Amino acid sequence: MNTDQFIPESLQNTISELKVTWQTPSNIALVKYWGKSDPQIPKNASISFTLEHCHTVTSIDFIKAKRRELPKFDMYFEGKKNDDFKPKIATFFKRISQYCPYVFEYDMIIRSKNSFPHSSGIASSASGLSAIAMCLMSLEKALSLDNLNDQFFKQKASFLARLGSGSASRSIEGPLVVWGSHDEIKESSDLFGVPFNEEVAPIFKNYQDTILLVDKGEKQVSSTVGHNLMHDHPYAEQRFSQANENIKKLKQILINGDITSFIGLVESEALTLHAMMLTSDPYFILMKPNTLQIINEIWRYRKEQNSYICFTLDAGANVHVLYPEKEKEKVLQFIENQLSKYCQKNQYICDNTGFGARKIDDIE
Ligand code: PMV
Repeated sequence: MNTDQFIPESLQNTISELKVTWQTPSNIALVKYWGKSDPQIPKNASISFTLEHCHTVTSIDFIKAKRRELPKFDMYFEGKKNDDFKPKIATFFKRISQYCPYVFEYDMIIRSKNSFPHSSGIASSASGLSAIAMCLMSLEKALSLDNLNDQFFKQKASFLARLGSGSASRSIEGPLVVWGSHDEIKESSDLFGVPFNEEVAPIFKNYQDTILLVDKGEKQVSSTVGHNLMHDHPYAEQRFSQANENIKKLKQILINGDITSFIGLVESEALTLHAMMLTSDPYFILMKPNTLQIINEIWRYRKEQNSYICFTLDAGANVHVLYPEKEKEKVLQFIENQLSKYCQKNQYICDNTGFGARKIDDIE
């Protein structure tokens, strides 16, 4: 794996100040990444839908300073100075510093906000870290004497984001992104996400994802701990080969529009992810009783209404309800009438597939 390609060679030294702002989305995996080796190398390939409305907006003010031993930055979240996120970002800067040596030469003021409610149980690490990665790449492009092309820009942004949080590598482009090397996905890599470059059947275009906020509390077991528990997991190897097999199957499903197989594969992936948690040592459960109530209601509705609704889960209790655009009106009624009662404060977020990172004028 060639990581040297991401070490910049010819940078100029003449930019004293730069402010950039990027909006980057969250994503939801269809085939899940669960298990990794150092440094953030996935044990299997994963594929996700990029979301549109759940996103982070981040601006960074870069101010040229004397070269420092450690990157210096201040962090403001939703208008207020916030030191809680600093350790995670400091670790991120440390991990990427050999690929972004300019982080030692600029003081940074980071301002960030999310479109989704804070502590909604929606992971903000994918959108948050991919937004910082895009801002760094804007500085790199401005400093670079070579003409950084668009593909390299996005690839390196994904590479950097991955070093912060694996799934963040899938938040640069859209609507479908594969991360992890796989024989059947052209250009795929363990180092960064690549767009799924096949013609996708119409039924999967503008796919809907309504996120039911079942539990907004802090997770009892973090993803980092969960990934680590895959090291001595009795079913790990079978799981990694199953996921790679599922990528192969899903590729054909997406091309052919075989929605019934899509439903089976996606729901099985969600339950297998949680089965890995149930069978870890120590074992743990992130689903809540209402997660199961919702799953059963979705199965009942699908049967009674001949619907193509299905669900997937992240590493948490919230349920992502997935369905084709043409069912939108009916499914939203079903969610409002039958499922919202299982959500904290009846809250859910309506989203759909999107196209990835966008440069914007300012954070306000
Ligand atoms: O990116 P991480 O380290 O937070 O791991 C995310 C893992 C899952 O969300 C459970 C699955 C995935 O592929 O996004």
